[in-house]
Amino acid sequence: MADIEEDIRSLQLESADIAEDSNGVVSPDDGKTEVEESANTQQEVEEHINADEDPKQEVQEQSIKTEIKDKEIPPVQDEEDEEDILSKKRHLNVVFIGHVDAGKSTTGGQILYLSGQVDERTIQKYEKEAKDKSRESWYMAYIMDTNEEERAKGKTVEVGRAHFETETSRFTILDAPGHKSYVPNMISGASQADIGVLVISARKGEFETGYEKGGQTREHVQLAKTLGVSKLLVVVNKMDDPTVQWAKTRYDEIESKMIPFLKQSGYNVKKDVLFLPISGLIGANLKTRMDKSICPWWDGPCLFEALDSIEVPLRDPNGPFRMPILDKFKDMGTVVMGKVESGSIREGDSLLIMPNRDQVKVVAIYIDETRVKRAGPGENLRVRVSGVEEEDISAGFVLSSTANPIPAVTEFVAQLQILELLDNAIFTAGYKAILHVHSVVEECEVIELISQIDPKTRKPMKKKVLFVKNGAGVVCRIQVNNSICIEKFSDFPQLGRFTLRTEGKTVAVGRINSF
Ligand code: GTP
Ligand code: MG
Repeated sequence: MADIEEDIRSLQLESADIAEDSNGVVSPDDGKTEVEESANTQQEVEEHINADEDPKQEVQEQSIKTEIKDKEIPPVQDEEDEEDILSKKRHLNVVFIGHVDAGKSTTGGQILYLSGQVDERTIQKYEKEAKDKSRESWYMAYIMDTNEEERAKGKTVEVGRAHFETETSRFTILDAPGHKSYVPNMISGASQADIGVLVISARKGEFETGYEKGGQTREHVQLAKTLGVSKLLVVVNKMDDPTVQWAKTRYDEIESKMIPFLKQSGYNVKKDVLFLPISGLIGANLKTRMDKSICPWWDGPCLFEALDSIEVPLRDPNGPFRMPILDKFKDMGTVVMGKVESGSIREGDSLLIMPNRDQVKVVAIYIDETRVKRAGPGENLRVRVSGVEEEDISAGFVLSSTANPIPAVTEFVAQLQILELLDNAIFTAGYKAILHVHSVVEECEVIELISQIDPKTRKPMKKKVLFVKNGAGVVCRIQVNNSICIEKFSDFPQLGRFTLRTEGKTVAVGRINSF
């Protein structure tokens, strides 16, 4: 019980809207809301019960494949480069999130430029290409947005991946798309990240649209928290814009509106969140501290300093090995890509690819371009293995310790927080959605509601429950058709938290209790 309680406390997913309607729990006894009488008539409740016949509830995301594009890693080369980069600097995955056009790719591109990853000639080439497409101001974003569709439309589609280093750390940037159609890709990026940079546009009207109900500033923050992004740097971007002109009043307005929302989403604003003003486009307050002639009132750190000083919990390199597979390809054997969530890997190790239990041997391990003999948790790797064909592996499989393999299940019990159901539908047995858990994307069905969570005490209630509505917390049993590899949240938080989505919207977030 204490576990569940703690789980819920740290879930803390009620948005402002949910908080207003956090009592949408319906008991089967009287057909009315349990705690607070809402305006629901019996008829409305029955309509809700029938909602699972609603064709809108049909799952439409089945074909979505989450994608990550790799910006600069050349194909795997088999050079014996025995530099042990592990011991020198810590490594962090940083996901860039925020509403469409907030400036994520521009800021990411500028960071790469300032840290010497992109040369002047390439920038000039991008300037020309952007101009030819009548997208002059987009040239910095072209560093991250590498495919034709992204450049033509000025929108990131796949999560961009790139690397840079500061004095103390190595960073992998994961540049998520902001557009609402590509939230599944954002989920995949955020689920690999340790920390997040939430990019907010200060331009007149743009902050407002992103922050509105339905805007991706909100959705991304809630998803990031659920997906394990424990720290956020909130960069108030486009401060150079003519509608802003580095006005402190605008910065303060955005900060004061964001703070309550971040708190409601479960972030401890004092400990886990830092705000700073920047301009991604002109590169202000990124690598070096703010030039006082541009912005006299900012005395705080620049983004690189903030990234350097962020502390993340130490991971256990001795835990059982777990690396969810994001992608795979053929290159002198089979190569799998993913982030190590637990344990360590060494060349020559014998491992299992779950859920198929294929026995493999580790032939080579690569971090970025560098071949290494071993790697620990948090690293993004490409691992060449022998003993399995590339065709026999799918994204969502997990490279796993042989002695202690990850469980493969078709059913599990989870605690869910319902965010926003489509058209205020109800959540009941038979509800179908797309489950996103680490790199798994799979259709699922809720087969039993076990108990509802009392919004006041945050404990499971005794009464049996038939359905719940927006904002409710519920413990339920969920089924999938194909075996998936998951863990209990209490054992491996990163492999035990998930989101449910239907029709392109995130409807619930949750944690796996048992199976
Ligand atoms: P999606 O990937 O589609 O979600 O967008 P994004 O957040 O990556 O935004 P992107 O970097 O593509 O920038 C969108 C537009 O905002 C471009 O026209 C950029 O030039 C502009 N922009 C980005 N950062 C700044 C900035 O600091 N100042 C100004 N004035 N414009 C900026
Ligand atoms: Mg982008």
